[in-house]
Amino acid sequence: MNVIEVEHLKKSFHEKEVLRDFSMTVRKGDIFGFLGPNGSGKTTTLRILSGLTAADSGKVKILGFDVDMQTSDLRQRINMLPESQGLYGCMHTDEYLSCFAASFGDSLDKHKVKTLLEMVGLSPDDHRTIQNFSREMRQRLEIARTLVNDPEIIFLDEPANSLDPKGRRNIYALLKRLNKEMQITIVLSTHILDDVGQLCNRIGILHQGKFQYQGILRGNGKHTSKNQQFCLPQEIKENIFAGLSDECLIQPGKGLIRITLEDEGSYGMLTSRMILRTIPLTDFTNYENYLESLYLKYTGGTAVIKHHSYN
Ligand SMILES: Nc1ncnc2c1ncn2[C@@H]1O[C@H](COP(=O)(O)OP(=O)(O)OP(=O)(O)O)[C@@H](O)[C@H]1O
Ligand SMILES: [Mg+2]
Repeated sequence: MNVIEVEHLKKSFHEKEVLRDFSMTVRKGDIFGFLGPNGSGKTTTLRILSGLTAADSGKVKILGFDVDMQTSDLRQRINMLPESQGLYGCMHTDEYLSCFAASFGDSLDKHKVKTLLEMVGLSPDDHRTIQNFSREMRQRLEIARTLVNDPEIIFLDEPANSLDPKGRRNIYALLKRLNKEMQITIVLSTHILDDVGQLCNRIGILHQGKFQYQGILRGNGKHTSKNQQFCLPQEIKENIFAGLSDECLIQPGKGLIRITLEDEGSYGMLTSRMILRTIPLTDFTNYENYLESLYLKYTGGTAVIKHHSYN
């Protein structure tokens, strides 16, 4: 079931066109990763989806509601964590969460505060003010505040931006848990491709005002034979790439050709041809590099061509 449907969205700031004919779909239970260069419009899109900014034109349906209508029914069922948050350092966690609950017209009792804090791995017995928390603890608290209204969808703008690798991993484990155990659909933006590979089941790559790529991350980011890259010597004469799926990427490089295989059929086809012709395998690279290839391909970062243009 689609919980977010966006069609033909446009948004400009003064003369600058940020979104042009932008469309996307998110399904219930997705962890959808929003990728794109700086200034490509990730924050703008997340703000439009969460009703904080109006689009110039186009259709945005969330949970069946028209976002333009700003209905309180919809507002109660989604929440957003902006990129730069002004944490109120002098507050305690319960005060902080109550403050955000009040913006939904709710008051939090002690039990709900305890539940929220425990849900994100913070201790309800920690009575320090927020300014004394580590960055990771603050970020956990920020995620707790997006849960005050028991949302079905949360939008997170670069939720692990300023964290060290362990902190990022912990926050992503938390998001996975919220997604799995509480069935919360998550849409997040990030620049950290490795983490997207581990966390998201679907991604969209935003560039020049629209998604240049929107699709499933097979294996949910795990390394599988189907989405590994491997390298072959450049001097291969035979056309062993004929008939591979369009989604396979072929990058001619210095002395070798790097191939990223996206589906089982292509994998079987290519490997059996290599065995038959005794073509040596030069190197394996992993899934994260695959994402990087995809990202660079669709954001114009490097010359990557599809196999059919290589024939
Ligand atoms: N309120 C605004 N007024 C004018 N221009 C804006 C406004 N908000 C965003 N922009 C412009 O819109 C473009 C897209 O910005 P946005 O913040 O959505 O990009 P982003 O993909 O989130 O970038 P980043 O990766 O740096 O966070 C940028 O050129 C930005 O300067
Ligand atoms: Mg941004």
